[in-house]
Amino acid sequence: MSLSRPYVLVLYYSRFGATRALAEQIAAGVEEIAGMDARLRTVPPVSTTCESVDPDIPGEGAIYASLEDLRQCAGLAIGSPTRFGNMAAPLKYFIDGTSELWLNGALIDKPATAFTSTASLHGGQEATLLTMLIPLLHQGMVYAGVPYSENGLVATSSGGTPYGTSHVAGERSDRNVDDIERSLARAQGRRVARLAMALRPLREGA
Ligand SMILES: Cc1cc2nc3c(=O)[nH]c(=O)nc-3n(C[C@H](O)[C@H](O)[C@H](O)COP(=O)(O)O)c2cc1C
Repeated sequence: MSLSRPYVLVLYYSRFGATRALAEQIAAGVEEIAGMDARLRTVPPVSTTCESVDPDIPGEGAIYASLEDLRQCAGLAIGSPTRFGNMAAPLKYFIDGTSELWLNGALIDKPATAFTSTASLHGGQEATLLTMLIPLLHQGMVYAGVPYSENGLVATSSGGTPYGTSHVAGERSDRNVDDIERSLARAQGRRVARLAMALRPLREGA
């Protein structure tokens, strides 16, 4: 039983900052819901040389997530840059280390939502979002997308999908999160927070 306030874990990997910018908007959306906190965390890069070791505290951005951050969360927003139409290896590496949570059913009936950033408009956002959820469905989590009551889903000419929010960062990764992407990310944060709140009694057997 956690003594801290309930929180949505906003867990991301970001090499160039685009996914991180989206994560910060989702966290802001979570915190708009009374009684729910956002916990922003990242994962370390994986190295091609097994001797390479990074400091425990990253140079910038959120601190690294622990298994405990994931175990105790009331909901999860998970974000990765798209890499060849899939999530980045550091995030997959972290997820592959969660067998103990699976064995104990720690994430069952908690909402999960996904976000991503690509260089190009049709560079695989939806494939990344959907495949990122697969391991979380194995964990028993409940998939929360973004409903079409959000007008931005129709109005956008950049990021934003019903499978989760997204950002088009451009070829040089220098395009800022635009107003529609930002508003969809905020809405996604609010939605996962509301669902996390609503599902708590179910998990606690009330
Ligand atoms: C190895 C690798 C593979 C990538 N694959 C894709 C891709 O399939 N589609 C795409 O649009 N962008 C692709 N990109 C670009 C990143 O998705 C894009 O720059 C993203 O916005 C980076 O997010 P970040 O700033 O959070 O690191 C790839 C980048 C790398 C390094």
